[in-house]
Amino acid sequence: TQHFLDVDDLSREELDDVLDDAEALKSQETGDDDNHALLPDKTLAMLFEKPSTRTRVSFETGMTQLGGHAIFLGPDDTQLGRGEPLSDTARTLSRYVDGIMVRVFNHADAVELAEYASVPIVNGLTDDAHPCQALADLLTIREHFDSFDVQAAWVGDGNNVAQSFVIGCAMVGIDLTVAHPEGYGIDDSVIDRANQFDGPNVTVTNDPTKAVADADVVYTDVWVSMGQEKERDEKLQAFEGFQVNEELLDEQAVLHCLPAHRGEEITGAVIESDHALVWDQAENRLHAQKALLTKLLS
Ligand code: CP
Repeated sequence: TQHFLDVDDLSREELDDVLDDAEALKSQETGDDDNHALLPDKTLAMLFEKPSTRTRVSFETGMTQLGGHAIFLGPDDTQLGRGEPLSDTARTLSRYVDGIMVRVFNHADAVELAEYASVPIVNGLTDDAHPCQALADLLTIREHFDSFDVQAAWVGDGNNVAQSFVIGCAMVGIDLTVAHPEGYGIDDSVIDRANQFDGPNVTVTNDPTKAVADADVVYTDVWVSMGQEKERDEKLQAFEGFQVNEELLDEQAVLHCLPAHRGEEITGAVIESDHALVWDQAENRLHAQKALLTKLLS
């Protein structure tokens, strides 16, 4: 059983194949059964511990478009909330469905589900990683620049989205600089994993201006993630100077995984500018995940 807990659960070749398949699926009519109904009668369970717009809707729509279907299981919909162990839940769901997409707080919970499930576990966001987002990010970059021969900058929190983006960039050879405030960087273990791939090592700085100077594309994300509300004031203070705004940018393309907090990590003017690729990026979740599900659940 092949799980997808982070981007490097795929080989470089598999990652290229998923991106190619995503591009092909994107170019097809969804009603074209010959090309599109790749997962007939397959069922994906979607286990959500926290809210979502993009992940929920793109996975559910994706499964429908592929001829299968998805079952949404929110925090109050399973016996997990009443103490049934993850191990029992994983083994039970595996007897009914063909894959399980999970959005949980603790990455270790996704790992435990994968340990016990006999069907693929797909990480739809944990505190450590957001690999489905990274697939969409890479697809969006390749689509826009027609190549991975670009320089990218991550500006802001070294969070779960950043960590999977770092791994994804390393795998495809994107030259990435991460600018984060002191104390809010990428885990050393993630940097080590990224630097094992051929291609440029990840550059890390506390200077956003330096990070974006030679960048073709600049990526930012929320400063205060779900579950971190108590740290809000402290984080807003630490991230002063890291806003992606018109003063920081020149002509760079802009990514944001959404939801965006206009006036915090990014300005409304930047989000609404011609340089923002954020709506293509959100759409590409659908195509990238359809390609991934076809690979894992077929
Ligand atoms: N980018 C992303 O994962 O969005 P949702 O939280 O709405 O799923």
